[in-house]
Amino acid sequence: MRELKILAIVVTFTLITYYLVEPFAHSQMHKHVEFRNFQYDGKSDIEEVEHKIKVAKANNEPTKELEKKLEEKKKFWSEVDKISKIKGDPVAGEGTYAMCQGCHFDGATNMGGVTPPSLEHAGALYDKKYLIALVKDPAMAMNVDHKYKDDSMHPMGAIMSMVSSDQDIANVVAYLKEKKAGKMDATEAFVEACGRCHADRYMKWTQVGFVPKTKENIKTGQDIEALKFKQKVAEEQNALADYLGKLPPDLSIIVRARSEHFLKTFVEDPQTQLPGTAMPRVGLTKESYEKVNEFLEDSGDAKRHERAELGPIVLVYLLIFALFAYLWKREVWRDLH
Ligand code: HEC
Ligand code: HEC
Repeated sequence: MRELKILAIVVTFTLITYYLVEPFAHSQMHKHVEFRNFQYDGKSDIEEVEHKIKVAKANNEPTKELEKKLEEKKKFWSEVDKISKIKGDPVAGEGTYAMCQGCHFDGATNMGGVTPPSLEHAGALYDKKYLIALVKDPAMAMNVDHKYKDDSMHPMGAIMSMVSSDQDIANVVAYLKEKKAGKMDATEAFVEACGRCHADRYMKWTQVGFVPKTKENIKTGQDIEALKFKQKVAEEQNALADYLGKLPPDLSIIVRARSEHFLKTFVEDPQTQLPGTAMPRVGLTKESYEKVNEFLEDSGDAKRHERAELGPIVLVYLLIFALFAYLWKREVWRDLH
């Protein structure tokens, strides 16, 4: 009887901690960030500025610049919405795409602190409205416009004067959605969407490519190719840190450090989770986010498939074991009852 009471007390306190205390503490320590289903309509950007205005007002600080920003953001995203309704012509878009290739090409190197990524799967990776916003004003689309007095100073900012009509924007996005939307694997998704900024040690990925297989000189033990590669990585990392204010972290085990909700909402709009963060928004679709996530899971939790396969077998083993233990107990105690 006593044991039962103790058990009841333990269970009660565990339940209270689990269902009341923990969620309360969590809600106090982490602001709740709404998941927006990978829709890019500028809502979170606008809410962010509105929030800043509220804070400034509460502190009796001037809000004029912020009010201006708010109007600018509202106008920008409503124009993006308008362009998304124009029917784009992928054939005409191909000509505009040639301009993109001035910066985005195989073997492109660092410009303005970052290397333009491959656009081989851009139509599949990125959301349509996000792409429209990106071609219209990259700093605004990536939600890093607070870093620039003039958005054309963004490393991709030159596009603003190259492609200016709504129809041209609709055309080039239609081209990407038709011709650059082929099947990609998890590695391609990660490399194209995140790999220019983030290394992943476990997958041997660096910001300038996979670590090559090299050989040391048998007489000296020196590996010149490996040293050259290291220098390239170091130079790229320094440039990135200058551009972003800090080196983006290695993502090898990020799936263990952060929850799924954090990762999803962070990629949708980093500013919602880490206000003031240097990471730009990436604009993935739901499907491509899943691909990127698969890569990160393979990196940080490589044994998960084996574990899932092994789980049921272990359970069956435990069941059989329990049965034998029970039978054995009955056998031993039989004469005592
Ligand atoms: C002046 C050079 C330049 C031009 C022209 C240019 N880009 Fe970029 N682009 C960049 C750079 C640099 C980045 C990386 C910026 C960063 O990571 O902050 C980038 C990033 C991107 C990204 C990744 C966005 C993300 O959220 O991660 C896409 C997609 C893209 N560009 C598409 C295009 C398209 C489409 C065009 C043509 C309509 C184009 N770019 C023209 C330089 C350029
Ligand atoms: C243009 C560069 C850039 C790109 C592209 C980029 N990131 Fe980042 N990322 C950063 C920077 C810079 C930080 C550091 C942010 C900070 O600490 O404020 C960061 C931080 C992170 C963090 C750590 C957040 C934390 O504190 O736990 C995660 C997770 C992350 N990025 C995921 C991604 C994923 C996934 C992608 C691709 C879909 C991606 N990033 C693309 C620059 C980038």
